[in-house]
Amino acid sequence: MDALILNGSPRGQRGVTGKLLQSLANGLVAGGASVTHFGVAQMHIAPCKSCFSCMHKHPGVCVQKDDMEQICERLKVADLLVLGTPVYTDSMTAQLKAVLDRSLCSLQPFFTKDTAGRVRHPRWWTMPAKFFLVSTSAFPEVETFGPLITTVKAQAANMPAELIGWACIPGSIALQVEPSKMAHHLDLLSRLGEVIGRTGKADPELLAALNTPPVTVDEFLTIAASYETWCRKKLGMDKAKA
Ligand SMILES: Cc1cc2nc3c(=O)[nH]c(=O)nc-3n(C[C@H](O)[C@H](O)[C@H](O)COP(=O)(O)O)c2cc1C
Repeated sequence: MDALILNGSPRGQRGVTGKLLQSLANGLVAGGASVTHFGVAQMHIAPCKSCFSCMHKHPGVCVQKDDMEQICERLKVADLLVLGTPVYTDSMTAQLKAVLDRSLCSLQPFFTKDTAGRVRHPRWWTMPAKFFLVSTSAFPEVETFGPLITTVKAQAANMPAELIGWACIPGSIALQVEPSKMAHHLDLLSRLGEVIGRTGKADPELLAALNTPPVTVDEFLTIAASYETWCRKKLGMDKAKA
């Protein structure tokens, strides 16, 4: 299996998303997959200009010459696309969204009905046949991921690709204050990666365990209190009122 991992976090490898993706990547490699990992927020990828040159003038090729060229070359051959992003305003980061928008250059200007009977564009070149989503959020509730999962499901359906699962791990502030709380989920991700690398499928039990939050809402509030104390100090709000 040839896997392409895209990390949309501006914090790259230092961030929670980066750590989660690294564990998944280690597992994929252990399972026999070859893995390419891009930090898209550290690359130069301009937003789509909506010029439609890729449809009408240069079939399948974007007119903008930047780091998206490297990603397109990998998208054309990868079997699995791992989308890694923190939740930003109830969705993915703008940097990762720019990559998905720019993959418009795979589309032909014509119209056809897909296997679900929906009108879509055929493609100059195909996208990876399988998708997997890795995400984290500041807030501790799993519901935080609802809009992002809906978006990625729709994206996968458009390719069409199979969304083989997601690992959405909330409460990142608590995980940064107490990194040991993330250890179990990092281990699960590495085990899941190994299974995906070997079989191309995600194990349902591992997925269920991964999508169980590492901290409860009450544990989150207790751990987050030390972050709030740090914030008050930094803001000079810790001094007693006269
Ligand atoms: C612009 C911006 C928007 C954000 N929006 C949300 C949000 O809607 N919900 C949420 O739970 N966290 C939100 N967060 C918090 C991030 O999801 C959180 O800090 C996450 O840990 C960042 O992941 P990283 O460490 O991989 O960069 C937002 C952060 C930023 C910078």
